[in-house]
Amino acid sequence: MIVAANLKTNLTRQETLEYVETLSNTNIAQGTKVLVFPATSSLNSFNTSLTIGAQNAYPTKNGAFTGEIGLVHLQEFNIKSILLGHSERRHILGETQEKIVEKFNFFKEQGFEIVYCVGERLQEREAGLEATLAYIQKQYEGIDTSYEKLTVAYEPVWAIGTGLVPTLVDIETIHSELKKLSSAPLLYGGSVKLNNVKDIYNVPNVDGVLVGSAALEVKDFSAMVEIANSISK
Ligand code: 13P
Repeated sequence: MIVAANLKTNLTRQETLEYVETLSNTNIAQGTKVLVFPATSSLNSFNTSLTIGAQNAYPTKNGAFTGEIGLVHLQEFNIKSILLGHSERRHILGETQEKIVEKFNFFKEQGFEIVYCVGERLQEREAGLEATLAYIQKQYEGIDTSYEKLTVAYEPVWAIGTGLVPTLVDIETIHSELKKLSSAPLLYGGSVKLNNVKDIYNVPNVDGVLVGSAALEVKDFSAMVEIANSISK
């Protein structure tokens, strides 16, 4: 199982240091992989065997891109993993598929592990499965779905930060369809909590979870890792 924490715009540098230090004491079984995506200004030289990734970066080594960070800023901390296509970047920050593809190609070229997010909005979900899949399919356009360091995260926009979760059957249906588009590991994200994570791990074609708000408490996220340790599939 892959257990990933997207800390979003939370936890200061000091809090993140303490977070990673505490999380690093969690037992991680052989089949479990843990990733943490801190806020950009909380990236650091962590003394940890956990995988630390960036939530975002500009597709450049360095240059004139005010407010952005580039490859050199990630290399400074030996960061080789990145989250791309998150719904908050698509829908709040206005990132286009074209720009996401540019980032994907740049970081692929650099050999980064990429966690690539897809997911439908409420309006597609309400329009039914066909509309949902058609919308998500567009988010695969331009993406090398056979990239060996790719992980996909299915995160329905309406489930993020809302406490709403698709039924386990709905997760299974979408995941089995998305596995046809890419055989990469496929995570589920959107209101994953300590009390539903085990059931989600056990859904066929779910290879792990991407957790937002419930990951902010390190003891809860650590408990999710421990539950993942006990799942064998
Ligand atoms: P929540 O777990 O807060 O719903 O956020 C999910 C998410 O966006 C992870 O990337």
